[in-house]
Amino acid sequence: MRVLNFGSLNIDHIYRVDHIVSPGETLAASSLSFAAGGKGLNQSIALAKSGMLTYHAGCIGSDGQSLEDILSQNGVKLNYLEKTDSVNGHAIIQVNAQGQNSIVIFGGSNRSITQEQVDRTLADFTPQDLVLMQNETSMVCYIAQRCKELHIPLAFNPSPISSELLDTFPFDAVSYLLVNETEAYDITKEKEPDRVAAFLLEKYPEMKLVMTLGGDGAYYADKNMALQQPAFHVEAVDTTGAGDTFTGFFLGLVMQGKDYQEALRYACAASAIAVTKQGAAPAIPTLDMVNDFLVK
Ligand code: RIB
Repeated sequence: MRVLNFGSLNIDHIYRVDHIVSPGETLAASSLSFAAGGKGLNQSIALAKSGMLTYHAGCIGSDGQSLEDILSQNGVKLNYLEKTDSVNGHAIIQVNAQGQNSIVIFGGSNRSITQEQVDRTLADFTPQDLVLMQNETSMVCYIAQRCKELHIPLAFNPSPISSELLDTFPFDAVSYLLVNETEAYDITKEKEPDRVAAFLLEKYPEMKLVMTLGGDGAYYADKNMALQQPAFHVEAVDTTGAGDTFTGFFLGLVMQGKDYQEALRYACAASAIAVTKQGAAPAIPTLDMVNDFLVK
């Protein structure tokens, strides 16, 4: 059993600011740092740190070698990572004094995934595996369609959400939908988790919904049950990548046999630890750190 993550890899440019810049305003940052990121890369590292055998499929650009090295150092398998001549994807991230962020991404190499790469890669996977995907790469609709045809379960984190995605994405191909409150609202026009679940399960009865609720923790629902997990409250330094940490730990632990309630608890703990450190990928804890956090 393996997870194949078709995902973005970004070079994050992190600017610490007093407040998120307003339209028309010029603001001096107090610091600039660079770190590995991209929702795809972050989720692959979180999956691997949860103990899950994880393959990352995607494209790095001519300036993206350090991203490959970081994935490899964290135990992520790179058989399906390809190189392109284009500039690597990157993100411009402002982090304010409260640790909240605002992110602009440039797709770059992440937009170079082709139909041929998808077909070549999926040919090595089976219905016993899980494919994971976000919305920062090319080919998301095609990957979903092929997973459906090949009966390979698909976990989808539709982030960042867009009107194009809402209009074109085959949500009936999704086994696990992992959303925050904004994404849930954009898809269902409902805010309340039980109503989000009711909307989705009526249309897609086999879907499993996982919803993060910010300071209220996280929620899981399928056709048999609905579960809630309160958040762990910590001092936030930087919330960038907290959702990715949650996603990787939740899916990794479910795939390794934890029940949904336990997987929610571990995923909330992992993301709580992640927000206490700066950066996305560098802040993702190990499973041992999560275990220690939970026994304290
Ligand atoms: O979810 C956080 C990530 O979003 C950052 O690492 C950035 O690269 C963007 O993809």
